[in-house]
Parts: sequence; C-alpha cells; structure tokens
Amino acid sequence: MEKILVTGGAGFIGSTLCEKLLDSGKEIICLDNFNDYYSPEIKRNNLRNCLKNENFKLIEADIREKEKLSEIFAKEEFEKVVHLAALAGVRYSIDKPQLFKEVNVTGTLNLLELAKDKNLKNFVFASSSSIYGVSKKIPFKEDDSGNPISPYGKTKKDGELHCREYSEKHNMNISCLRFFTVYGPRQRPDMAIHKFTDLIENEKEIPLFGDGKSQRDYTYIDDIVAGIASAVDKEFKFEIFNLGNSKTIELNYLVSLIEKELGKKAKINRLPNQDGDVPITYADISKSRKMLGFNPKTSIEEGIVNFVKWYREKSN
Ligand SMILES: NC(=O)c1ccc[n+]([C@@H]2O[C@H](COP(=O)([O-])OP(=O)(O)OC[C@H]3O[C@@H](n4cnc5c(N)ncnc54)[C@H](O)[C@@H]3O)[C@@H](O)[C@H]2O)c1
Repeated sequence: MEKILVTGGAGFIGSTLCEKLLDSGKEIICLDNFNDYYSPEIKRNNLRNCLKNENFKLIEADIREKEKLSEIFAKEEFEKVVHLAALAGVRYSIDKPQLFKEVNVTGTLNLLELAKDKNLKNFVFASSSSIYGVSKKIPFKEDDSGNPISPYGKTKKDGELHCREYSEKHNMNISCLRFFTVYGPRQRPDMAIHKFTDLIENEKEIPLFGDGKSQRDYTYIDDIVAGIASAVDKEFKFEIFNLGNSKTIELNYLVSLIEKELGKKAKINRLPNQDGDVPITYADISKSRKMLGFNPKTSIEEGIVNFVKWYREKSN
C-alpha cells in the first residue's frame, strides 16, 4: 500500500485530500502544527473522519523545526510527499512578511532537503495563482514565471524555484500546482466566500473593495483535490500545473449568488482597492487537462449552493 506524507493535512484542502487518498486505498501520515491563524479546533474537526481510519496517522510538528522533521523522516516510511503546509492569506502576509518567509520558504527547503535523501517517488508542492500578480498575459499559463505583488505570492514563487533547483540537482520528481481560489465545505474562514456568507447571514455590513468588477477564477474543492490526487499518482521530473476552473467570476456576481442562496440581501460597504489585490485571475488549464486529465466539473452556481448548505449545517 502506498504511503504518503501530507503536510498541512489538517487544513481546508489538506483534510479533504487526506479523505480522498484514504478512500483510494493509500496510507496517510498527516503532519500539521495546528497553528492559530484560524481556530485549531476547526482543523481538529476537519480530521474527525480521517482519525477513525486505521491507515491514517497524525503527527503534530512544525515544518520550521528541522531536527524534529529529520527524526520523522528517519522513522517513518513513505514514498511520496504532498506539501500543503503554509501560511496562506495575502493580507496577513503584508503584516507578517518575515513569518511567511520562515514557514513558506524555509519550511519548504527543510522538507526538500530531507526528501532528497529519502529516494521518494514524487514531491507535490502547493503553489498559488498569486505568483502571477498583475500579469498582462491572460489567461495565465504555466510558462509565465510570474511577478507576484504580495509577500505571500513571493514566498510561493521562491518555493517553486527551490523545487526546480532540487529536481535538477538531486534528480527528484517534483510537481508544483498553482491553485486558483479554492472554495467549498471547510473553506478557511478568512477567505472571501466564507467571510461574505458569515456577514450576510448575520445581517452585518460586508466590505467590498474596488468597484466589484474584479474577477476571480474560483475552483471547487473536489475539483482541486482530484487534480492533486492525479499529480500524486503521475510522476513527472519537474512540471508546473495550473489547477483552476478556467472561468472568471465578477465579485458583484459572486455576492449576488451568496445572497440568493442565503435568501438575504447584503449590506455593502464599498471601499477602495487594497494592497495585494489583483484585478483578475484566470487559469489556462490546457496543460493540466492534457497531462493530469484534470477536468473541473463544478460551476460556481452549483458550488455556492453546496457551500451554503455546509455552512448552515455546521452553524446549527
Ligand atoms: N485555499 C486556496 O484558495 C489556496 C489557493 C492557492 C494556494 N493555496 C495553498 O494551498 C495550501 C493549503 O491551503 P488551505 O487553504 O487549505 O490553508 P489552511 O490554512 O486551511 O491549511 C494549511 C495547513 O498548514 C498548517 N501549517 C501552517 N504552518 C505550518 C507549519 N509551520 N508547520 C506545520 N503545519 C503548518 C496549518 O495548521 C493548516 O492546517 C497552502 O499551501 C496554500 O498556500 C491555497
């Protein structure tokens, strides 16, 4: 049975991925430090199903602690790594650039350094659409190495560069996956769809930055997880893949979908654009379609219905 180390496995994407990989017959070692960027209780709850499975093991550790990591790598047998642990959140990175560098860059280097001697079949790194910044080449393609405008985006770009370097120098198989705004059940509470839903449901004002015409490529969690699972199975020397829905959704339209599903009108507080915001994200997924068989199926209309259903169930 194939054994996989999933870092950040207690988070939104990580916990959903762990469930999917367990379902497909893999053994999982989940490594997470349960940091308090958002409630660690939410993360413990995310793992409720996984913890019932005998093929699942949880290790609480911090990817910044090289010695502890080194003990884990020496003791545990696994053939593949999916590295999702990171500080996410563009706004937060503007306040804490040093901390983001320590976790997202040094933490990634710690893992790559240990992985190079472990003879792994594959190392999958979670990158982000943030690396594209305000690229003029739309839709975004993987051969655009990006020009990130936030400290968060810069840490992901550095992470990709280190992945490339380790693949070349140490003959490792590495795939970097650039996720485009992921949403769905368990979405982080700091992300727009979750935040807007909370505020509209509680009849509070929602801050809307810019004129509401900014566009995002929103990708449903099950589609992202299917793309990650495919990258785990296929072993490439070094590749970068966009994982997005390849459709752009205007912010005003997104809010109207949430309003409709909640049956409540938003109280909108219009504010100027914020630092780190980009006008558009839009994934070209022809490479992922061809090489990963990636085929996102969930429209934003359907995805918001699922999200609001989950939100209401968890709130009751
Ligand atoms: N959610 C998105 O839209 C999105 C978009 C692009 C990229 N990503 C990337 O995908 C990955 C997962 O994102 P998510 O939305 O599930 O976030 P998340 O915060 O829910 O999950 C990240 C997990 O990593 C853990 N973690 C953080 N620092 C750690 C450390 N030092 N040591 C060990 N564990 C640590 C956290 O406790 C958390 O459980 C991240 O790398 C993120 O940058 C996410």
